[in-house]
Amino acid sequence: MKILVVCYSRTGTTKKVAETLTSELKCDSEEIIDTKNRSGIWGYLKSGRDAMKKRLTILEPIKKTPDSYDLVIIGTPIWAWNVSAPVRTYIVQNADKFKKVAFFCTMGGSGDVKAFKEMESISGKKPIATLGLRQADVKNDTYKEKVSKFIEEIR
Ligand SMILES: Cc1cc2nc3c(=O)[nH]c(=O)nc-3n(C[C@H](O)[C@H](O)[C@H](O)COP(=O)(O)O)c2cc1C
Repeated sequence: MKILVVCYSRTGTTKKVAETLTSELKCDSEEIIDTKNRSGIWGYLKSGRDAMKKRLTILEPIKKTPDSYDLVIIGTPIWAWNVSAPVRTYIVQNADKFKKVAFFCTMGGSGDVKAFKEMESISGKKPIATLGLRQADVKNDTYKEKVSKFIEEIR
């Protein structure tokens, strides 16, 4: 099975999980790059508002075409109990190119269930597996067991 791991990450947490998945699955990866500056407190506030209002953003062109993969694993940080604006944009722009999808997210503590439902609705695909992780667990490296379970579900 040809797999692509895609993620957006504002501060590196979701990217760390994406890198773990990519190395465990020995597959391709793509980082979603937003053209909007989201750094600092203003970036934080803008991001929360964009997510709440379900706004789209302008992404840098992607390098990997999702339709050449059997499975696309999409990762997002949770913003205001929602999928982040860059990942929402990626899914909207590529929904017709996904064969199978799986989702993962990182968060302070809550929002994964709602965000996964939204990602399912925008992509029009039921995920074959989902993985919600707390930022603290990713930081402390206490997330690997959940990653292994997620990989088992995918395989
Ligand atoms: C604008 C904004 C809103 C957030 N809202 C939530 C939230 O509703 N629930 C939650 O658990 N964490 C929330 N967080 C925390 C992030 O989801 C968490 O820090 C995540 O791991 C960051 O991932 P990243 O380092 O890949 O950007 C929010 C973070 C930002 C920047």
